[in-house]
Parts: sequence; structure tokens; C-alpha cells
Amino acid sequence: MKVAVIRERRAHERRVAASPDSIKRMTAMGLDILVESGAGEGAGFTDNAFAAAGATIVPEPTAALGAADIVIKVQRPMAGSAAEHDELASVRRGAVLIGLLQPLQYPADIDAYAAAGISAFAMELVPRITRAQAMDVLSSQANLAGYKAVIDAADEFNRAFPMMMTAAGTIKAARVLVMGAGVAGLQAIATARRLGAIVSATDVRAAAKEQVESLGATFITVDEGASRSAETAGGYAREMGEDYQRRQREKITEALRRTDVVICTALIPGRKAPVLLTEAMVAEMAPGSVIVDLAVEAGGNVEGSQPGVIVTTQNGVKIVGYLNVPSRIAADASQLYARNVLSFLGLIVDKEGRLAIDPNDEIIKATLLTRDGAIVNPLLTPSPAPAAIAAPVAE
Ligand code: NAI
Repeated sequence: MKVAVIRERRAHERRVAASPDSIKRMTAMGLDILVESGAGEGAGFTDNAFAAAGATIVPEPTAALGAADIVIKVQRPMAGSAAEHDELASVRRGAVLIGLLQPLQYPADIDAYAAAGISAFAMELVPRITRAQAMDVLSSQANLAGYKAVIDAADEFNRAFPMMMTAAGTIKAARVLVMGAGVAGLQAIATARRLGAIVSATDVRAAAKEQVESLGATFITVDEGASRSAETAGGYAREMGEDYQRRQREKITEALRRTDVVICTALIPGRKAPVLLTEAMVAEMAPGSVIVDLAVEAGGNVEGSQPGVIVTTQNGVKIVGYLNVPSRIAADASQLYARNVLSFLGLIVDKEGRLAIDPNDEIIKATLLTRDGAIVNPLLTPSPAPAAIAAPVAE
């Protein structure tokens, strides 16, 4: 079977779906890998490195896509005449497509996969069960985004993070507040601590307190009672009520007076991100403070954050709204994403290197969007039972 890897053509995307390491392992699985020349450029993987790992380099995307049984991508394929290259049109009928396909945001794409007879898998729908941990792209990419957010903040901050005692005087340690202590938030805490900052964090989920404290940061509790019921069965946060939000804002406004840098990572699956910092709260911060809004693509945790740019407020606070933060650390993000995809391939390719998709497998059921011309995912099919809607997101 042939696997295609092409250059990602969407804006702000430097990652690639394979690494030299994953190509070596896919080849060992009995797969033939076709890589478009230059596919790894944004992540620092050369054609030579891919070829040395066992891939065949082809000059343009059609040569890879048109021959492939399996297409592995980071972003959903480009489609239509306006695209730089209509990637979808080159994918063969019956082929498998694996990527971050954003099915809920782009339902028309899913219709197109069905019409093209493609078996499409959305990697972001991999359930968070132990067996699927090696395929968990949300975690692998959020972890790097949390790290990079702190590095980006440090870059925009015109002071140092660590305390320094020098002959010319003492520099005070920076104070960092992390809002949302999930995968990205915990890595942001660890990174800021490594840089020598004094770190505090908050989250709606009660379980986050212990994790935050084990990293050496101070946890800001808003409402102990409310936080005990703030977590879904799957470990995600619920949307909190007005009263909680008001109290959270009060607590955080107080903390902001002692804060130089805020890293916002709070998300609610399937919803707009909660607004955690209002314009009035940002206005209270000292000039030179930096806020990184990792939730900017989901509507933003910060009033006034803008996708893709750094906004400087009237009182001199910078709000960083970089898009696709994992792509800003493309080599490692690609390396980990490629490993996630490789693990996923282990689920759908048998020992003889043939396709073997088990429709009853829990991971397949959650991720498979389309098959044999039909939309088959319970998240997307019309009027499914309510339990079936909740399952893949909440798992
Ligand atoms: P996420 O990306 O959906 O959200 C980020 C964080 O924001 C979460 O910790 C959430 O509680 C928090 N948040 C939401 N609304 C908030 C608000 N109004 N104020 C403050 N914080 C708010 O979450 P992520 O990072 O994907 O992790 C969610 C959970 O999944 C965590 O419990 C994590 O430990 C768990 N997890 C489990 C895995 C597994 O079992 N294989 C793998 C990865 C994560």
C-alpha cells in the first residue's frame, strides 16, 4: 500500500504529517511512502532525510495523492478551484484520509469526502482513553503550544523572567499567571517555572489544583463547591454560570495587580472559549505586561485579542494572539504528530501491510467520518441518540 505525504499549503502551517523517523517505521510496516518534494521544509526535514528513511520523493502533490491508498495530512486538504492546488480532487476513490479535519467547523468538507468515496479520519476525535494515548494529537500539540506560549511571552516581555542578583542591582522574578491548567496550561506552568518565574494558576476543575501545586505553582481557587461539579465524565470543563464568572473575575483582578504575564489556555469542547479577562481587567495591568491568548482561534479568553497579531492596549499591555502555535515549533510538533499518526496507522493496517478497518473499534468509531460514500460519524449524522453525541467528545 502507498502512503502520500504532501506539503501543507494552508496559511500559518509549517508542520508536516511525517518525520524521517515515522517514515522509517511506516516502511518497516510494509508501506511505500511517497513524499512531495519540499514537504518537510517548514519543519526542517529535508528531501534527503526523508529519502534516507525510505521514502520516494515525487515532484508535485498529484503524483503522491493520485497513487496513494492512504493520505496523511496535518490540515484538511485544499479543495475547489480557488485553492492553490485542489488536493482533494487528486485523492483516489476508496482511499483513506487522516488529518486534523475539523469536522464540526467544516461540515461541507465532510460532504465532499463522502461524495469522493474517501474514508476520512479526524485525528482530533481520538478518544482520551489509555489505549489511544499514543494517538492523542490534542495532547501532543497542546503540550508544545503551552511551552511556546511562554517562550513567546518572554520574547515580548521587556524584562527577565528569573530573579538575578548582580553587582548593578537585583532584578525581580517575573510573576506569571496561567489560566486553564489542562495539557497546555500545565506545560506553560512548568516552562515558566524553569525560566525562574513565580507562577500561579487557576482552573475550574477541582482536579487541577493538585497538578498545579505539584509543579510548584500556587493555585487560585475561585469556588471550591462549584469546581467539584465543573468536570465532565470525560475530564473536560463545563461552561460555568454567571455567578462563578463574576467571582472568578474578582479573584483574578486581585491577582492581576501582582502579575506581569498571563497565559490563557481555557477551552470548552465544542463551545466558544470563555472570556476570562475583560477589557477593564486588562486596563488594570501595568504597562509592559504581556498576555498570550492561546484560545484566540476559539473566540479568545481575552477581550481585545486579535487572531494572528499582537495588540498593544492604550495602557501598554501586549496581547499576543498568534494563530496555530504548535506550527511555530514545527519540528517537534511534526515529530510528535507524525508519531500520533503512525500509532493510528497501526490500528488500521494489519501485519501484512493491508488495510483492516474494524468499524466496531472504539477509536475507529469516534474518528471515522465517512465511508463508502456515507457520513458515518455519530457526531455528524442527523438526529443521533443524545448519548451518542456526547460520547466521542466527553471520552
Ligand atoms: P481543554 O483544552 O479543553 O481546556 C484547557 C483547560 O481550560 C482545562 O483544564 C479546562 O478545565 C480549563 N478551563 C475551561 N474553562 C475554564 C474557565 N472558565 N476558567 C478556568 N479554566 C477553564 O483541556 P485539555 O487540556 O485538553 O485537558 C482536559 C482534561 O483532559 C484534563 O483533565 C486532562 O488532564 C485530561 N486529559 C486526559 C488524557 C487521557 O486520559 N488520555 C489526555 C490528555 C488530557
